[in-house]
Amino acid sequence: MSLALDHIGIAVPDLESALALWRDQLGATVGETEVVESQGVRVAFLETGESTPTELLEPTRDDSPIAKFLASGRQGVHHLAYRVADLDETLTRLRDAGVALIHETPVPGSRGSRIAFVHPKGTGGVLIELVEPAR
Ligand code: CO
Repeated sequence: MSLALDHIGIAVPDLESALALWRDQLGATVGETEVVESQGVRVAFLETGESTPTELLEPTRDDSPIAKFLASGRQGVHHLAYRVADLDETLTRLRDAGVALIHETPVPGSRGSRIAFVHPKGTGGVLIELVEPAR
């Protein structure tokens, strides 16, 4: 078992205006933007040298979890993503322990990863994304 911080997810209403701050004013290096269909989002990763990247997420449709988050009047930090070696095994362990999951089985994430979200009601209010990177 191992756990590492993979990225910090920030919900933004508009990716281009967010990049004007993060890239143009703060100096982040931005990787390719990518649409993640399973989540209804367009994401851009801010590469920050040796440290954990920041993921900016813009909704691409109204039923996107990010659209719902923004529609509820919130914005900003949305989730913390942790890397696990074996996502299926981790989900089984959480399920067996009675931890509420948003995804019972993995869904496709960005960069060829597999992901699943753990419900904040089971984590003391933190929305956790579990990431199994592409092999
Ligand atoms: Co994420």
